[in-house]
Amino acid sequence: SSDHLRHMDSMSQLPSGAGNISSLNAVILGESLASEEHDLVFPSPHFSSQALISSPQQYQEMYKRSVEDPAGFWSDIATSEFFWKDKWAHEVYTENLDVSKGPIKIEWFKGATTNICYNALDRIIESGSGDKVAIYWEGNELGQDGKLTYSELLNKVCQLSNYLKHVGVKKGDAVVIYLPMLMELPITMLACARIGAVHSVVFAGFSAESLAQRIVDCKPRVVITCNAVRRGSKAIHLKEIVDNALVESAKNGVSVGLCLTCENQSAMKREATKCQDGRDIWWQDVVPQYPTECEVEWVDSEDPLFLLYTSGSTGKPKGVLHTTGGYMVYSATTFKYAFDYKPSDIYWCTADCGWITGHSYVTYGPLLNGASVIVFEGAPNYPNSGRCWDIVDKYKVTIFYTAPTLVRSLMRDGNEYVTRYSRKSLRVLGSVGEPINPSAWKWFYNVVGDSRCPISDTWWQTETGGFMITPLPGAWPQKPGSATFPFFGVQPVIVDEKGNGIEGECSGYLCIKNSWPGAFRTLYGDHERYETTYFKPFTGYYFSGDGCSRDKDGYYWLTGRVDDVINVSGHRIGTAEVESALVSHPQCAEAAVVGFEHEVKGQGIYAFVTLVDGIPYSEELRKNLILTVRNQIGAFAAPDKIHWAPGLPKTRSGKIMRRILRKIASRQLDELGDISTLADPSVVEQLIALSDS
Ligand code: WTA
Repeated sequence: SSDHLRHMDSMSQLPSGAGNISSLNAVILGESLASEEHDLVFPSPHFSSQALISSPQQYQEMYKRSVEDPAGFWSDIATSEFFWKDKWAHEVYTENLDVSKGPIKIEWFKGATTNICYNALDRIIESGSGDKVAIYWEGNELGQDGKLTYSELLNKVCQLSNYLKHVGVKKGDAVVIYLPMLMELPITMLACARIGAVHSVVFAGFSAESLAQRIVDCKPRVVITCNAVRRGSKAIHLKEIVDNALVESAKNGVSVGLCLTCENQSAMKREATKCQDGRDIWWQDVVPQYPTECEVEWVDSEDPLFLLYTSGSTGKPKGVLHTTGGYMVYSATTFKYAFDYKPSDIYWCTADCGWITGHSYVTYGPLLNGASVIVFEGAPNYPNSGRCWDIVDKYKVTIFYTAPTLVRSLMRDGNEYVTRYSRKSLRVLGSVGEPINPSAWKWFYNVVGDSRCPISDTWWQTETGGFMITPLPGAWPQKPGSATFPFFGVQPVIVDEKGNGIEGECSGYLCIKNSWPGAFRTLYGDHERYETTYFKPFTGYYFSGDGCSRDKDGYYWLTGRVDDVINVSGHRIGTAEVESALVSHPQCAEAAVVGFEHEVKGQGIYAFVTLVDGIPYSEELRKNLILTVRNQIGAFAAPDKIHWAPGLPKTRSGKIMRRILRKIASRQLDELGDISTLADPSVVEQLIALSDS
């Protein structure tokens, strides 16, 4: 019909970032079905009819507006869904993303004042949801649990805010948080936000040395931790790690005067913990004495909210800095649409608050929507591989968001662990952290979700603050393994080596044109590195560091990092960090680290190690090298494989040819390519000969 034609017409005017959605519509309208027809997975008509975004057309209209009129699109959302003490001055946003035109600068809602804690708690309570559960806490052991309503959560947050103010923490001061998944973790984040302090959460799996490095970088007034945590059958004495980190940071000129320690009774009694007089204070001894009301510190939209360190391609971790207003609007809006959030939902994200996923999608995004969130302290396979589904049934979880590595490991453990639970409450599943391979996608969809729940495979990064490319579960059919289409306001551009944007079906480097509210604003203390890493590679664009392809229907497929970052179980690890840990061992002369395909972890860590002259290879040394990495970074960064290397393949100018190392690591020995440019090509043969040692 002519109507239909008009419709198709308006779609072809979409900016190229939206991909070729007209063929997606053709699919939906039953026309010229694509050859991958069998790979399209449709949401049920029932699901779509109830969804916030229920059709491609609705998405397209909103998407079109979001990129043609970003100021109007985002200010409407900001105005109708959030509280601002004062409105932004005139411009909703300003941006300069081109280094040739001066320093990179991104600002959203500048001049407005707000508070994210107020928006996540007080505003929800004022709307009448004070008695709704904000956090369900599930401990490591079965039967260990707790919960807090929005009002109770606010009381706890205020007590800590008051305490922090009392000990002198002021707006703009940094607070380092080294806590496991106790309720105190989101409580602490929110308490900092309430008084304008900048939190820097360090994942409680990082070693003392990594923690010290982060403390030295941001010089916090306070470190907040707990005595111990039990994960699975192991107890980990976190306070000891903090003690060591504080000694180490003092050696580097940063002394922290206060360490507030929460007693995690279920893991360990406080008597087992050493305390330093004058520095170490038990949370339980002080915080509950403070008033349960605490005035909000109104901050500028562009005032910093948090720092979160992440790995890059050089050894030093980067302090990604997010500010308040844009992050608030973006984390909440992405949460709402990508999970099709309804007030009746019970939401569980398995991520730890030590990573960005736990910031945006355990704490801020869901609470800003007034959601009930599960915080799980334990390990997903303890006491057995059915634990996740036990929790799903116990709390009637409706939205379950996790990482492909967990999906693959549970898949390996067998369907019986899943099918013995009902899981009928589930309606939306989510995946994040790395590309999800189609077979894991299908298992997640068919077995966990009983072929009923759409999967939101969300692509984003610590730097982006929130989802960038993600399904909107009721809007369109999915393709297993594709993150589908850009979120509102996001304009992906796939560029070639020279930085030219490529249209249509293609592969290349994934960049983003223009800014979005959740974008990070700088790397703490190193704006130059921010510009060099993200904005100089391709003029005018943010460069993600990921490879990507777009198929003929406009679906985006993430293909993994193109820089020297590897993704192990969804944890971002810089190969340079692991290398520098290895060479710190006195018997290691040189190390080169690459990723290799790993059945469960996605990528594993493969280290080529050259020893100091005269040192023989030994099993003991292998173990010691691995231990060195565990001690310097954390257990999650331990190499899976150490490959003894008499020499490393280098060009005549001394550059290590990682391409060759990757092929050796993945045993693709017939694909080594041209090795004639090596300074000493015989190195390669020696390496291959030692492959199986
Ligand atoms: C990868 C985690 C494919 C990607 C939120 C990115 C993904 C890095 C996906 C960021 C996905 C994350 N599909 N790859 N759905 N989500 N990645 O900063 O390589 O810890 O650059 O943020 O994870 O990791 P980060």
